[in-house]
Formats: sequence, C-alpha cells, structure tokens
Amino acid sequence: MPATSVIGAQWGDEGKGKIIDLITDRADVVVRYQGGANAGHTVIVEGEKFVFHLLPSGVLHAGKLNVVANGVVIDPGQLLEELEQFDEGGYDVSSRLVVSGSAHCVMPYHKVIDALREGNKAGIKIGTTGRGIGPAYADKANRSGIRMWDLIDEDRLRARLMANIDELNRRLVAYEAEPLQFEPMFEQGREWGRRLKPLVQDTGRLLRRALADGQYVFFEGAQGVMLDIDHGTYPFVTSSNSNNLGIGPGAGVSPRSIERQLGVIKAYCTRVGSGPFPSELEGKVADHLREGGSEFGATTGRPRRCGWFDVPMVAYAVELCDLDGLAITKLDVMSGLPEVGLVTGYQVGDELLTEYPVDTAIVERAEPRIEFFPGWSEDISQVRSYDGLPATCRAFVEEICTRVGAPWEILSVGPSRDSTILRTTP
Ligand code: GDP
Ligand code: IMO
Ligand code: MG
Repeated sequence: MPATSVIGAQWGDEGKGKIIDLITDRADVVVRYQGGANAGHTVIVEGEKFVFHLLPSGVLHAGKLNVVANGVVIDPGQLLEELEQFDEGGYDVSSRLVVSGSAHCVMPYHKVIDALREGNKAGIKIGTTGRGIGPAYADKANRSGIRMWDLIDEDRLRARLMANIDELNRRLVAYEAEPLQFEPMFEQGREWGRRLKPLVQDTGRLLRRALADGQYVFFEGAQGVMLDIDHGTYPFVTSSNSNNLGIGPGAGVSPRSIERQLGVIKAYCTRVGSGPFPSELEGKVADHLREGGSEFGATTGRPRRCGWFDVPMVAYAVELCDLDGLAITKLDVMSGLPEVGLVTGYQVGDELLTEYPVDTAIVERAEPRIEFFPGWSEDISQVRSYDGLPATCRAFVEEICTRVGAPWEILSVGPSRDSTILRTTP
C-alpha cells in the first residue's frame, strides 16, 4: 500500500483536519511529523465538534494507530489534556497512540519566551500562536532541548534541566522576567514523564516496519506550505518544515516511501498572524468570507485575514511539493458572491510576475492582478455530486486546477464529514 501525505498548500487552516478525518477510514496509521500545539484542526462528525492540537486528526476512527513522530514538538501537558478528553469521550485514544522518544518537549519556559519575544517591540512581531513553538525548535537546533526520552527518565530530566537553567535564567532576566525555580519545574516534568512513559517508543522503526509490511500510512501536515521555515514567507513562518518535504526527517522514513501527495486548499485564502498576503481583502467580500467560513483561529480565536485564491502561490506549492491532487474546501462559503476572484499575477513596480517570487521582500511589494469569474448564488452545502454543482462553481474549480497544475480529488461543501464530493474513492 502506498503512503500518502496530506498537507496544507496555503497559510494553514485549509481544512486538513476534516480531510484527514474523512479519508482515515482507508488508513492503518496516521502520523503527525512536525509542528506542535500551534495546530488547530477542527473535525465535525454528526454535529459534534472536535478540535485537535497535537493528536493526529484520524483519532476518531476506531482501530487506527496514531503516531506523534520525532519532528513534532510536544507540550506534554497539552497532550495529556487532549488524551484525557478523548479517552473520557469513549474514543480510547491512549491504547492507539504512540509518541516518539526523540520528539522534543515544549516546556513551560518556551511559552514564556515566545510571549516575551512577541512583546519585545525591538524585534519583528510574527503574531505567533504563543504555544512556545519557535523557542522549542530553537533549543532543538541549539542542542539544549529536552526530548521525550529525557522526560520519562528522572535522572536524565534532572541533568538536562540543570544544564539549561542558568542560561535560561540569564535570558529571562534580560527580558526583565521572573527567573525559573528548578524544583517545581522538575516536579512538573517528572509527573508528565510518569504519565506519558507507556506511550513513548522509537516511532521511526515502527513506521519503517509498518511501511515494509504494506500498511497504509497517512502523513498529516500541520500549518501549510507558505508557513514552512525554508520555503514560506520567512520570517513570517512557523519553525518547522510544514510541507511534505519535512516527512523524512520528521518521521524517520525514506522519501521513497511516500507515493501520493495530496494538497488541501481553500477556494479562497486566509492567514493568521503577520506577514505579506498579496490577495488580502478588506470590506464586504472579506466579511462575507470571514463570517460565512467562521474564519476565527481554532488555537487562538483570532480573526483570520481573508483574501481571494492566489494562483501563483498555490502553483508554487504544487510544484515545490509535487502534489498529485487537491482537496478544495469551503466552496459553500463562496455562494452568494456575484463574482469570484483569482489572483493570477503580482505587479511589482513595472514588472508583472506570474510566478511566485520566493523573496519575501518582493511578495511584500506585490500588488495583486485579479481576474473575476461569475459567482453562484445557490446553497451548495447539500450537493454530493460534481454534476450537481452550479456550472459557474464547476468552472471556478476547473479554472483553479488548470492554473495551479493539479487535478481536484476531493471537493468540500461544508464542515461535516459527509459534506463532500469525491472524484474517486480515496
Ligand atoms: P486545518 O487547520 O487545516 O485543519 O483547518 P481548521 O480546522 O483550522 O479550519 C478549517 C475550518 O473550516 C474548520 O472550522 C472546519 O470545520 C471548517 N471546514 C472545513 N471544510 C469546510 C467546508 O468545506 N466548508 C465549510 N463551511 N467549513 C469547512
Ligand atoms: P494549522 O495546523 C494557521 C502561524 C501563526 C504565526 C506563525 C508562527 O491549524 O493549519 P508559531 O506559533 O507557529 O510560532 O506561529 O504561524 N500559524 C498558523 N496559522 N494555522 C496553523 O496551524 C498555524 N500554526 C502557526 O499565526 O503567523
Ligand atoms: Mg487550523
């Protein structure tokens, strides 16, 4: 069986959670391989709403193994909270979840540093989720991180924390913040480690063996291509490889193992936090999209910035990530707009660019060139076949696919699992 990657191809919140949940009935294993609790994936099944930050979005399906792999930065308190919530809800996630010992922990001080850096007027304000993601990945790269292996071994935890605390406190004092107390922090870590120990193992070997045994593995991306630390709108990005290129290092599997690459996109575009957004809208259309699409962050509640679908940007994502197909979500939200727009180029000074420029400074200066197409007024949320969609909606979908260079595989016309049109069985 092939492994499949499912990633967001814009700035996150494309509806990855809904799509993963939908197709997990075909999977044996679902894997998170990067990011942390900055992710907020909402899944709606039979009217009930579930939000995942660290757990893979496939956990609602009985009998599937869920993996939090080494590339994720894990806030142990948040993971335990989510586990408790879903275990109590009758989903028995603890018995179907494994966590990599090599994954780094987001410690409480990472969240403190995240908040202090964002509040520091001298630096660039990224508009982070405040979940400690950047500082945790910085410690990983700095080789001063605490891994799950350390958390579950009292002696190692003590030694690692001891080794870090002086430097951490010098940084905190420089920010005029309270220094850390060793004992309460160690006690908290020890308690988390004790509770999480039964789940911790070498998930890389487990995944390589699952793949060799022909199990069907889904790799679930968090965030999206344009938030990727190497290929997104740096510095207005997250701190991991939030595209499918991050799967090898983030999960410990060969790039050869992933045979099918699916990208999730919205029929328009949103962004939370700071950074360039050439197709951003203000006014009536932005309000229509924000209200109709409930565009408020699942992690922070912040209103999402809204704009037209950006063709050069998604074409770049398709090319970079070699996407085989697309899931296009939120088509229902566009109902009622007399005309629907596509950004097809960027005017930068005298030059019209039709290819996405990877230099953020150029993206910041880009004025969008917008082409308009007839909209549709019908409520399409009950439509379950492609032919049942209004002709103008179908034309818009085809326009997107032709221009970005990948076919649609799934169309989504509402938040629930069944509000979906499949081209073929996934
Ligand atoms: P993710 O981070 O990519 O998983 O996306 P989020 O869950 O943060 O944001 C997507 C939001 O849109 C969630 O509230 C979903 O329930 C909702 N959603 C997903 N697909 C559709 C759709 O086709 N139509 C509508 N109206 N809502 C959708
Ligand atoms: P999902 O998985 C949308 C954004 C933040 C900020 C930047 C850096 O739900 O699509 P961080 O806390 O990661 O250091 O913040 O990245 N961001 C997201 N935006 N969806 C997400 O996740 C995001 N995770 C981080 O708003 O601009
Ligand atoms: Mg989200």
